[in-house]
Order: sequence, then structure tokens, then C-alpha cells
Amino acid sequence: MQHRSGKYTVQPYRIGAHIDGKNGLACLTKVERDPSAVTRVAPLPHMFVIRDLVVDMANFYAQYKSIKPFLLKPKPADGLEHRQTKEDRAKLDGLYECILCACCSTSCPSYWWNSDKYLGPAVLLQAYRWVIDSRDEATTQRLADLDDQFKLYRCKTIMNCATVCPKGLNPGKAIAKIKQSVAAGRAF
Ligand code: SF4
Ligand code: F3S
Repeated sequence: MQHRSGKYTVQPYRIGAHIDGKNGLACLTKVERDPSAVTRVAPLPHMFVIRDLVVDMANFYAQYKSIKPFLLKPKPADGLEHRQTKEDRAKLDGLYECILCACCSTSCPSYWWNSDKYLGPAVLLQAYRWVIDSRDEATTQRLADLDDQFKLYRCKTIMNCATVCPKGLNPGKAIAKIKQSVAAGRAF
């Protein structure tokens, strides 16, 4: 979404926030029913704040765009969809569910300090989703693009990302799989 000034890209409707000391979705995180209890809500950490809980997502979305989040394969001659086996489709489970809320990336200390160069857990999980897709034909190029000391290797296995993901995903594991794939020269 474009900010009315034309300068910012703000969060979609699934807004992530820092609630009682932990990142989570504002729409799902339970708060105390006791009216005397205090719930502390703040914007996602280490992001530029536009207003209230709304942060600037322009860099996050630009990083997402940079990993080419779509199938790189010519259209089938028969004009039908690209098919894959049930086993290959199952490899996307735990990846395709990501809603790009940025709760994981903004909980990662490596991303806090290097968000201009490190892709962060959300974008790397999405990158692995395309690396492991049996239908994609650009695996070698995708892995070469990711093989970078900042883009990928700033992940230091801190694992905050997996702790906060509201969808129960494990970006740290996906990042480890990318590193294995880079080392092996094939999707792993
Ligand atoms: Fe949000 Fe989880 Fe996706 Fe990270 S991996 S952007 S926390 S849904
Ligand atoms: Fe950060 Fe998760 Fe790696 S918290 S350092 S991306 S394992």
C-alpha cells in the first residue's frame, strides 16, 4: 500500500506489532481480559515508524521482490498448469503459508543491524520456497544469487524467528536448507 505522501510502503491489514515484549499479529494475540492489567503494544522493532503502529515496509517488500517470488519456467505447451507430484508439492508445506507479516525479520538481531544487506528470515524462507519447488527451472541461478555473505550468511542461527512466527513456521530451518543447497549446488 502506498502512503499518501507517495514515499512509504505500509503494512497490509495483517498488522504485526510488538505486544507485551514479543512480536505477533495484532489481530490474533490475546490480551488480558482483566481491565486492571496493562498490555503494552509497540510497533515492530527496528523499523521506521510512519504513525502509531504502522511501520515502513518498503525495504522489506523490495527484498521480497529481489528473490523473484514466482515460478521461473516457460508456460507449458498444452497451456495447462505446471504440474508436480504430491510428494514434491508436500515439500512446500511449512513455506507457502507465510503471510509476510515481518514478525520474524523484526525479531532477528542480525536483521536489526543489517537490514539494508541481510535479506532476513521472512524473505529467505520465501526464497527457499522457490528453490525447493520442483517446477522451477532457475534453481542454480537462485542459489547463486543467495550465496552472499550478507544476504544469506548474516543468519547466525539465533532462532528468534521461529519463536515468534504466528503461523508456526521455522524460517531458521529454511535458511539452513538454503545453506545446504548452496553447498551441494542443488535444492536440498
Ligand atoms: Fe510472518 Fe512467519 Fe512469514 Fe515470518 S515466516 S513473515 S513470522 S508468517
Ligand atoms: Fe535471525 Fe532466525 Fe537466523 S532469528 S539469525 S534469521 S535463525
